[in-house]
Amino acid sequence: RVEARVDAILSRMTLEEKIGQLDLVPNGPDLDPADIRAGRIGAVSGFNTSRSIAAVQEAARSSRHGVPLLVGLDVVHGFRTIFPLGLAEAASFEPALGREAAEIAAREAAAVGINWTFAPMADLTRDVRWGRGIEGFGEDVLLGRLFTRARVEGYRAGGLGVSLKHFAGYGAAVGGRDYDAAEISRPTLHDHYLPPFQAGIEAGAESVMSAFHTLNGMPATASRPLLTDTLRGRFGFRGFVVSDWQAIPQLMQHGIAADEAEAARKAIEAGTDMDMAGGLYRAHLAPLVKSGRLPEPVVTEAARRVLRAKVAMGLLDRPAPASLSDEVPAPSAAARAAARRITADTLVLLRNEGQLPIGTSPIRKLAVIGGMAASGQALIGPHGALARWEDSVTVLDALGERGKRAGIEVAFAAGCEVECTDGAGFDAAEAEARGSDLVVAVLGEPEEITGEGGSRAHLTLPGRQAELLRRLVETGKPVVVVLLAARPIDLGPLHDRLAGLLMAWFPGTEGGHAVADILFGDTGPSAKLPVSWPRTVGQAPLYYDRLPTGRPFEPGNRYTLRYADEELTPLYPFGFGLTYARFSLSPISVETPKVARAGELVVKVGIENVGTLAGREVVQLYLRQPVASLSRPVRQLKAFEKVTLKPGESRVVTLRVPAADLGFHREDGTYVVEPGRFEIFAGTSSDAALSARFELE
Ligand code: IFM
Repeated sequence: RVEARVDAILSRMTLEEKIGQLDLVPNGPDLDPADIRAGRIGAVSGFNTSRSIAAVQEAARSSRHGVPLLVGLDVVHGFRTIFPLGLAEAASFEPALGREAAEIAAREAAAVGINWTFAPMADLTRDVRWGRGIEGFGEDVLLGRLFTRARVEGYRAGGLGVSLKHFAGYGAAVGGRDYDAAEISRPTLHDHYLPPFQAGIEAGAESVMSAFHTLNGMPATASRPLLTDTLRGRFGFRGFVVSDWQAIPQLMQHGIAADEAEAARKAIEAGTDMDMAGGLYRAHLAPLVKSGRLPEPVVTEAARRVLRAKVAMGLLDRPAPASLSDEVPAPSAAARAAARRITADTLVLLRNEGQLPIGTSPIRKLAVIGGMAASGQALIGPHGALARWEDSVTVLDALGERGKRAGIEVAFAAGCEVECTDGAGFDAAEAEARGSDLVVAVLGEPEEITGEGGSRAHLTLPGRQAELLRRLVETGKPVVVVLLAARPIDLGPLHDRLAGLLMAWFPGTEGGHAVADILFGDTGPSAKLPVSWPRTVGQAPLYYDRLPTGRPFEPGNRYTLRYADEELTPLYPFGFGLTYARFSLSPISVETPKVARAGELVVKVGIENVGTLAGREVVQLYLRQPVASLSRPVRQLKAFEKVTLKPGESRVVTLRVPAADLGFHREDGTYVVEPGRFEIFAGTSSDAALSARFELE
């Protein structure tokens, strides 16, 4: 039915109308409503209220074929209610939460008429300097697959079409510099960077956004091997490809097109169907076809893919909204409650020297320090869509409210503003700390140095925050740091003097409540790092599933894998996060010591809460194939499960891995599952120490 409808429309379209479907024009001076009425525009962005969207859709409905517009927006981690960003979400190790957050965000956006999100970002990254790492799901391919799938499902269930981005390898930019080139070997590309996209496609993604950068020498937006051979040929993708913002004209800067017409031709021939904000398809496709330099069927096929998505999404049958407004509705109580619950599950407790949860040792007065503590904006991070900072519950407000209920006085001194360029408030902050029993310092990264274009060469606290923290630590009072940041932060020697460290990422609208819930123990921390936490920037890129070396580290042996001036290991490994409970794991029981090619590995691990507080723990299973035709990672996460246990309670967790997931890609791109011996590691981080073996037949 979809195809018949698309055929019917296409058969009546002129060349110019087909090209119109391929043009995404952002709200601004380039957008003339007369072009919409003439069928010369297929998609828009930057319209965010029901009244403005209804007006452009009305213009599209009055065009010759009445085909509605795709109305896109970066609904990345919320619309008006802001949830944690992808990296934080991955820290929950609960993909269902990602699905739920995406569905709520989609419902809010769809309610005003937005029908397409430029999300989720499925880019894997192993380099925390890259500012966009916060939008993705970290360094691990399994987390990437599960969370990409969950988010695609959630957005679609909430009424948005999705655009998986950025195809492909964008997160591997050299030096972590946004927009820089990437060099990725074929096995690594197929084993690590592409599977999250494949998962999103299998979950029904309507579109894929090509990346800005150059992969192995070819700009992604003009790469036929990527966009046609891999995406469509190998993964069976039937949706359309949209370029990133002005990425088609940028093919000239990349040096693969001499002029605009050549850039347009190369992009569409490679498989980029829609031109986002570049204006080159509009200007050059018709002359290219008419002069015989571009076959018309290439344009027709691209238009078919866009129309197919519009028909399949039901856009042609969606009624116009009943009531219109210039406002975006404020977060509902239900959305806030979900955001608070979900966010608490994304906060990673990294250090606890016995002060947490608050009240473990009796306290009368709590000093909250840091401009970020009182800032609603600092909780949102990049890509806040339609967020209003006044909607956010600040850390200070939430701790104040919670402290009051516990009979604890909560005092505040900013010390410095969010950017922390001025030390005039340091004395007051230090005095406040001295007069308290416990200090909560809210520090981190202003959003300007995170997200797109927010790559960093340093991982230290920006501005004078480290100086402020030193003053607080030197008071001798216990200091708990809450980090609002997009990436691991290097706190230097001060780290070892902290009473506690909570990684809160950019926690969103209900971030303050979620932080208070965790610090006071109303919700037990259960999140785990989705990235390795380096000791210093010089270790980046750092990731747990690296390949073995012929010279593994040996203390005292210079000619082994090491740094001359730093340890090799991360400060905190991938998968690490503390809880308030204490768990003990029993040895791995391998239920399937021999696994058939079509079978699955089944292992059981017992876990008991031997602490005094209830808690949740993530049991993680890592595998290694020590001998294969290609060198295999030292270990790779293959399964996990989060369990909730009361004190004294125990459970046996069953983890399964299909044999088909035990393979890898060779240099020629083929996927192989090679029989042989495998090592199993189970535990509560990538340092998992319990081990066992099995044989793949
Ligand atoms: O979706 C984004 C993309 O991730 C980066 N460039 C701009 C696009 C549209 O806003």
